[in-house]
Amino acid sequence: MEYAFAPLLRQASSPPWVVDLGYGASPVTAVELARRMRTVRHDVRLLGLEIDPQRVKDAAWAQDPPGRQFAVGGFEIPMPRGERPLLVRAFNVLRQYDESQVRAAWDQMAARLAPGGAVVEGTCDEIGRLATWVHLRAADPGSTERGAAQAISLSLAWHLQSLADQRITAPSMIAERLPKALIHRNVPGEPIHRVMQAIDQMWERSAPMASYGVQQRFIATAQAMRDTGWPVLGGPKRWRNGEITFAWSAVGPSR
Ligand SMILES: C[S@@+](CC[C@H](N)C(=O)[O-])C[C@H]1O[C@@H](n2cnc3c(N)ncnc32)[C@H](O)[C@@H]1O
Repeated sequence: MEYAFAPLLRQASSPPWVVDLGYGASPVTAVELARRMRTVRHDVRLLGLEIDPQRVKDAAWAQDPPGRQFAVGGFEIPMPRGERPLLVRAFNVLRQYDESQVRAAWDQMAARLAPGGAVVEGTCDEIGRLATWVHLRAADPGSTERGAAQAISLSLAWHLQSLADQRITAPSMIAERLPKALIHRNVPGEPIHRVMQAIDQMWERSAPMASYGVQQRFIATAQAMRDTGWPVLGGPKRWRNGEITFAWSAVGPSR
């Protein structure tokens, strides 16, 4: 994530705020997020937010203001002195909610962003072999979008070694970890269902590349997705990590 959003962090005129929303039982992933972001921009400030006050108390050991702060809060993103976050990560938070609540949560988060900022809302499995996320930004004034958030893209990421040794038997296994906006949409007639079918096909078709390694097979799969008309954003630099990003307009829910 620090690489995908590096230009955003570098361009910020003041020390940027990164928010880890719903950081969970332990603040370790929030601390790790700050550490990684600081490799790109040394003055990044982290705000960990939790709806559960006990979890905020339990994070006291990780407080190190002004660089790292933890507070009670949710999608409304309360910030010190009315500041705004440049980047918000909300991972494995909306999965506990109903699909009908997603849009309001997206809008609330996007409305709080600093100019040019991004929300990364996603899901992963317990050991990080499968991860998916939606990149959101604030909708342009006058845009025809329904709310304050504009979905830009969907990224899907696999642990390549697990694909190689068949612990992940097919790329479409990632469907069970789709963000809430899509997890119930992997059914015939929905674009995300077609993505899952296509990526399995391209993976099979790219099998001969496995003799050059799983990375090469994955790169061939991503290239084949693009060649067959899927709007794949980015290129081999991301594919090498087992990550592929699609324009949201082509993969979002049909209604
Ligand atoms: C499954 S944990 C995810 C922890 C961590 N983000 C991760 O990916 O491992 C979900 C966390 O989100 C918190 N949560 C749920 N709704 C929230 C909200 N509206 N605002 C802030 N935190 C929330 C829960 O208290 C819980 O700690």
